[in-house]
Amino acid sequence: MMNSSDLAEGQVGTTTCDDVGVWESKHPLPGGLEELYRVIHRRRDVRCEFTGEPIEPEVLDRVLRAAHAAPSVGLTQPWDFVLVSDRDVRRTFRDHVNGERAQFADTLSAAEAQRFAGIRIEGILDATLGVAVTYDPTRGAPSVLGRHSIADAGLYSVCLAIQNLWLAATAEGLGVGWVSFYREEFLAELLGISPGVRPVAWLCVGPVSALAATPDLERHGWRRRRPLEQALHYDRWSNQRM
Ligand SMILES: Cc1cc2nc3c(=O)[nH]c(=O)nc-3n(C[C@H](O)[C@H](O)[C@H](O)COP(=O)(O)O)c2cc1C
Repeated sequence: MMNSSDLAEGQVGTTTCDDVGVWESKHPLPGGLEELYRVIHRRRDVRCEFTGEPIEPEVLDRVLRAAHAAPSVGLTQPWDFVLVSDRDVRRTFRDHVNGERAQFADTLSAAEAQRFAGIRIEGILDATLGVAVTYDPTRGAPSVLGRHSIADAGLYSVCLAIQNLWLAATAEGLGVGWVSFYREEFLAELLGISPGVRPVAWLCVGPVSALAATPDLERHGWRRRRPLEQALHYDRWSNQRM
């Protein structure tokens, strides 16, 4: 067993993930473990590479069951999944997203706006399926075990379901793209979501030609990923070893 004080400066373990997201273990790992980490590091947010090919029903079932197996505060499972294949609905949503994109672009400096102009932010019509993931804060309420002091714990649970879906889809060879350029009221109305239930994400899901090795935002010079060492603190926030 290793504890954090055994770690040398700038070294956080026995694995590396280089700038292009290729994960390598310095020591051989049992097959399943190796594959798990490879999937985690291969996962990408997809906008451009959707092929529009069908998703096998059993594959979709496995992916949704993975999402539904996520941990949730007080075992509330506060998520629902609206599967949207209707192209008219998707087109209406895409038009709304384009409007939100324009609003965001208006807030940027000239240099940022120029960079943003070259970045796609959605694959709503190119993907095979849209999956709107919702949060129902009333599920299991009022006695939600573990949410009395942190109201957001319900939302965290939904995000974990989304991450499970994302990783399972990646393992199945599918791509997922999270779209958040929308107004919740608009999407709730479009999909006829029950009052009080919040649409947390629109996920574009489907077969892809490839998964990029590098996040799109990094490839377009928008932002770079930061090294793990910068995110690690030891015992106190102020104690970092960089
Ligand atoms: C909460 C959330 C909202 C996001 N919204 C969008 C979005 O609206 N459009 C988009 O293109 N990507 C969106 N993304 C994807 C991120 O840009 C992406 O995860 C990040 O750039 C890192 O790239 P990677 O997921 O390929 O590692 C979102 C991701 C999260 C977690």
